[in-house]
Amino acid sequence: MSAPASADAQRDAAASGRPELSPELSPELSPELSIVVPCYNERANVAPLIARLHAALAGIAWEVIYVDDNSPDGTAAEVRRIASADPRVRCIRRIGRRGLASAVVEGALSSSARFVAVMDGDLQHDETRLVAMLDALRGGQYDLAVGSRHVAGGDNAGLSSRWRHILSDGGIRIAQAFMPVKLSDPMSGFFMLPRALFEELAPRLTAQGFKILLDLVLSAPAPLRVAEIPFRFQERVAGESKLDALVLTQFAALLLDKVLGGLLPLRFLSFAAVGGLGILVHLAVLTALHHSGLRFGASQGLATLVAMIFNFQLNNQITYRGQRLKGPRLWRGLLLFIAVCGLGAIANIGIARVLYDQSDASWTAAGLLGAVIGVVWNYAVSATLVWRER
Ligand code: GDD
Ligand code: MN
Repeated sequence: MSAPASADAQRDAAASGRPELSPELSPELSPELSIVVPCYNERANVAPLIARLHAALAGIAWEVIYVDDNSPDGTAAEVRRIASADPRVRCIRRIGRRGLASAVVEGALSSSARFVAVMDGDLQHDETRLVAMLDALRGGQYDLAVGSRHVAGGDNAGLSSRWRHILSDGGIRIAQAFMPVKLSDPMSGFFMLPRALFEELAPRLTAQGFKILLDLVLSAPAPLRVAEIPFRFQERVAGESKLDALVLTQFAALLLDKVLGGLLPLRFLSFAAVGGLGILVHLAVLTALHHSGLRFGASQGLATLVAMIFNFQLNNQITYRGQRLKGPRLWRGLLLFIAVCGLGAIANIGIARVLYDQSDASWTAAGLLGAVIGVVWNYAVSATLVWRER
């Protein structure tokens, strides 16, 4: 759908000494489609992919935006080498960060095109399907076009092992259970949507791990109208896959976060899990001290202190890693944390006691309710006092 470059633009180009470019290449024609390609160590795949895009997208005003996390193999340099002679090619090089989803978000937010596509940089996705995706969106009756390996005409043969097949099928089942719309391939990393929609959803994205599509679909306030475009997932020829255990954990965290959304922030779950570990530490220390002959009261006091310090450390490392306390603020934080949790323990015991004495709550029910109130108190107060964001 490219319009010919205007006569003015051509005259300007001639006057400035720039070479006259064919309409598809003309930088005056802003792209209709940005293809965002997250990449890490994909040097050998850069030139072949760009050549294939040129062949597949003739007649469309497109650009490709590589988002490279400072790959040691020099992927970014290779992209820039090609970009120096091809205005359709752009490169974002990120330093000190890793992550497919966040790379996609940054690439897409750097686009001003009407549509953005996301595509792997390792030739496993079929670039010829981009045209069908674009056609589906241009009419406006769809919000999202997804390259699917699981509709008629699609195929997953390129997955590297039986293990990957099992993982992928299992992940799809789990993801589908949470999905507000029908998506046969929710784990696909190959899709296209209007940039304006992406911008609207971007602030709500978790943007962790690999599952950016799932993240988008789950973040939409209303179910998206999805067109599924079949494609064959190709085998990887050069380089290697980056999907690992961390990526899978992030996937689980993403689902948990979306399902519990607002209701129970991920942070609270982390805080509560740390608290659970703290109880184990407490019991272990208590047992050890008791065996050493110390009185119960003193043992209990010491065990409580050790558990609090342990919890503080773990929360500072994990739950609040984004605003980790260091130096003198670490000590101040620890003292505050001990004070907060001490009050939490008093509230916990007090409430459980009242419940047990004055209602017919059972021993466990009263204890449990006391503990829940204690955790919520500790979380709420330490989030605002100990690890407040400044
Ligand atoms: N910038 C950046 N940073 N890019 C990354 C990172 C990262 O940390 N990790 C991976 N990539 C890039 C890769 O270079 C590749 O272009 C693309 O993201 C996909 O990564 P692969 O490592 O090739 O993933 P895969 O082939 O195992 O997984 C693909 O299939 C899955 C479904 O089976 C991806 O398309 C997934 O999105 C998809 O869910
Ligand atoms: Mn791949």
